[in-house]
Amino acid sequence: MNIKRVLLFLISIMALHPLRADEGMWVPSYIQQKIEDMRGKGFRLSAEDLYSINSSSLKDAIVHFNGGCTGEMISDEGLLITNHHCGYDQIQYHSSVEHDYLKDGFWAMKRDEELPNPDLYVAFLEYMEDVTKKVLAGYSESMSEEQREKLVADNSRRIVSRIERKGKGIKARVAPLYYGNQYFVYVYKVFTDVRLVGAPPSSIGKFGGDTDNWMWPRHTGDFSLFRVYADRNNEPAPYSPDNVPYRPKRFFKINASGISEGDFTLVYGYPGRTSEYVTSQAVDYIANVSNPKKIKLRTIRLGIMDSQMERSDAVRIQYSSKHADVANSWKKWQGEMKGILKMNTVENKRNYEKAFAVWAKGKPEYDGIIGKFADLYSQAEALSLVRDYQYEALNAPEFLFFAAGDGSDSALFYKNYYKPIDKATFIALMNEYDKDIDDSYKSPYFKEKVAKAGSVEKLADEIYDNDSLSLAREFYMATNTFYNSTVKPRLDSLNREINMLYRKYMRGQMDFARENGTGKVFYPDANSTLRIAYGRIEGYAPADAVRYKPFSTLEGIMEKDNPAIFDYNVPQKLREIYASRDFGRWEENGTVPVCFIATNHTTGGNSGSPVLDADGNLIGVNFDRVWEGTMSDIVFDPDLCRNIALDIRYALFVIDKVADAGYLLNEMVILE
Ligand code: ARG
Ligand code: GLU
Repeated sequence: MNIKRVLLFLISIMALHPLRADEGMWVPSYIQQKIEDMRGKGFRLSAEDLYSINSSSLKDAIVHFNGGCTGEMISDEGLLITNHHCGYDQIQYHSSVEHDYLKDGFWAMKRDEELPNPDLYVAFLEYMEDVTKKVLAGYSESMSEEQREKLVADNSRRIVSRIERKGKGIKARVAPLYYGNQYFVYVYKVFTDVRLVGAPPSSIGKFGGDTDNWMWPRHTGDFSLFRVYADRNNEPAPYSPDNVPYRPKRFFKINASGISEGDFTLVYGYPGRTSEYVTSQAVDYIANVSNPKKIKLRTIRLGIMDSQMERSDAVRIQYSSKHADVANSWKKWQGEMKGILKMNTVENKRNYEKAFAVWAKGKPEYDGIIGKFADLYSQAEALSLVRDYQYEALNAPEFLFFAAGDGSDSALFYKNYYKPIDKATFIALMNEYDKDIDDSYKSPYFKEKVAKAGSVEKLADEIYDNDSLSLAREFYMATNTFYNSTVKPRLDSLNREINMLYRKYMRGQMDFARENGTGKVFYPDANSTLRIAYGRIEGYAPADAVRYKPFSTLEGIMEKDNPAIFDYNVPQKLREIYASRDFGRWEENGTVPVCFIATNHTTGGNSGSPVLDADGNLIGVNFDRVWEGTMSDIVFDPDLCRNIALDIRYALFVIDKVADAGYLLNEMVILE
């Protein structure tokens, strides 16, 4: 193709795939750029209502929950809602044989029954600010990427310490946007006295379990309630019985008046990581090498767990949380691969890169970038595979990791440890490592030990039959030391080069789009900082002849009800309420709404995020995505990508009718 034809082709594919408004995780302080589009789609508030540095705004009602999830204030007395799966560890922490809160649920019936959690914190964003100039002070083009990284780290540390000096509980963090073309500082107020207020039984909060995980139609009551406590001056303070409920600058009013397909929705939270601007080669590697290998290794692990869990209830309880952890990414990777294939992403990106390369000819900043990527990636791929096997195979048997520690968590470890599972895992995964990893990257210790024992099986006997902590420790240390000293430094250095190239390529993609008049606005990849995604409530067509509605109801819970299937065993209380039709004010069309889906662009970390209506009132709590749309971390398909939210009315119904904790509703503002 000559240049003209390439550009014409490019413009035609861009016209076919313009950035549909549903795609994007936008930076709150720049939301003005999108407000016209948002208002055109039904939003009724202003940019200042969402994010303001001068007065209170909706962002003040949102927290980063324990660093991994999102949560939000739903009363002026510090009441917080997040997902059940986000509060899972805390619920588990307070559980014992006598009080199994995971199984039975927990409800504080008054304030002094709320349960403090030693390791839980929530962070309110005070403000965010562009600090690119300060972060890059002293930078010169001649610096290597490593020198640049050091400069950025040093300058960032200075910025952070200057800010953190200013107040109680103030924490700052500098984060790169667009691969370090820009830097923002995020300033938080961190509260550490956060108490468990309520959680439904897992048969509601985790209803559907791994069977329904990542899937629609969904019927999970995935929520839990906490309360943030502060000192007498409303400032952060470590736990003390003298602390009082925190009075937030802002909390969400709840819209319980009902929602419809097509309604505007906004998700405001902390998405973790996306890779929307990577090259065709990177996508090819994910979809065709890395994901398949990791899936294979996890399929083996899950198979081993399954066969033992089926045989014994005790083992099932021991391994249910571990099984869920392993299965979560395992299932997501499969959906992601399928989605990438269906979207023809590798091919589309390849065509785009061809056009980019033609455009970049003669532009010193961008000329040859695509070729350099190819070179670096081809060096990095073999090493990346070794990294995947290090984490997914060598480090997967739990006994090894435990043996390498100081043993202080011994009671905790053995409580949920079943040797036959771990030994079988060791044997299966080490054989995979032995088979799949090129000899030159294989740990010499591993080779020597296996040779000496005679086989992986015999080595497993030596470690496991003798419960040999010292041998397990030696194995873990030796294989990790080899990886950390030989593979990782080379991989890190290549990734540094690749990142530097992406910094240029990101700028190049923006210039390219600008010059071609595509009008594309680039949002930065997610990086665990506060973002806004907007869209609407909408169903989707997952397959030929199938169309999903966007709402699920209590009817679906009862359809799934089966006491013989652990994931679908509806609690008796809910069955009784259903039979008596005692739905109270939460009834709609003779049933109770449970979950809904929408077109908001979300990812891991958005769990617990508020889903808001056009007026900024709370209509749901985000907790998942649909399986057919999980490629949205890499490529977003407006036809298939849907986030899954708990309908807030189901949470209120459970609190009111199932838990008999209706007193909690009194502190909320519920619009009906
Ligand atoms: N898929 C959701 C997320 O990525 C929920 C995970 C927890 N639930 C589960 N059944 N494993 O966090
Ligand atoms: N469950 C995910 C979380 O914990 C959200 C699902 C997703 O990846 O979108 O954040």
